[in-house]
Amino acid sequence: MTSEQTHVFIKNDNARVLLSEQEIKQKVQELGAKISEDYAGMCPILIGVLNGSFIFCADLFRAITIDCEIDFIKISSYGEAMETSGVVKLKKDIDAHLQDRHVLVVEDIVDSGLSVNYLRKRMERVKPKSLGFVSLLLKEGAAQTDFKIDYIGFSIPNHFVVGYGLDYAQRFRNLPAVYLMDEQVL
Ligand code: IMP
Ligand code: MG
Repeated sequence: MTSEQTHVFIKNDNARVLLSEQEIKQKVQELGAKISEDYAGMCPILIGVLNGSFIFCADLFRAITIDCEIDFIKISSYGEAMETSGVVKLKKDIDAHLQDRHVLVVEDIVDSGLSVNYLRKRMERVKPKSLGFVSLLLKEGAAQTDFKIDYIGFSIPNHFVVGYGLDYAQRFRNLPAVYLMDEQVL
């Protein structure tokens, strides 16, 4: 897809919008309010998972009204494909000290569950006071996790999606809404 085609994809294909900007905005505010309530007085540290969650993370961070901090970890499992490679690679580790902190990992989407399982193991090693997970999206029926994702924005059908930080081969992260990506637009 050329950048001109991307433009067409955004402008004319409303049918492919899965979650509108407005719906996302409202959900992020709700999640921020809930987290602010649950973590009041605890100064949680959010760990954004790069690259996919950077936009959600920035919006969620601003929707949280209590004292909180932020750091990032970078992992990859998808390469340029639409399916997980089955192997999670650590590309950038966390810098912050997480021992005895209330840690909240911020994911864009949970698909197979491989990434969150990996992240849980990585985070447990540093002995946080508490460990929580928030994900904007959860693919229905796909995730295999033996623990609960504490905060979920939306459960979505098991399709490949792009936009609001989510990419296909590093593109479409800048789309303002979440779109269903099908083979025809590739
Ligand atoms: P999992 O390890 O299979 O749960 O996949 C998690 C990661 O893969 C997410 O954090 C995303 O970065 C990426 N991913 C999974 N599904 C999609 C999708 O539909 N669109 C774009 N990226 C996805
Ligand atoms: Mg991700």
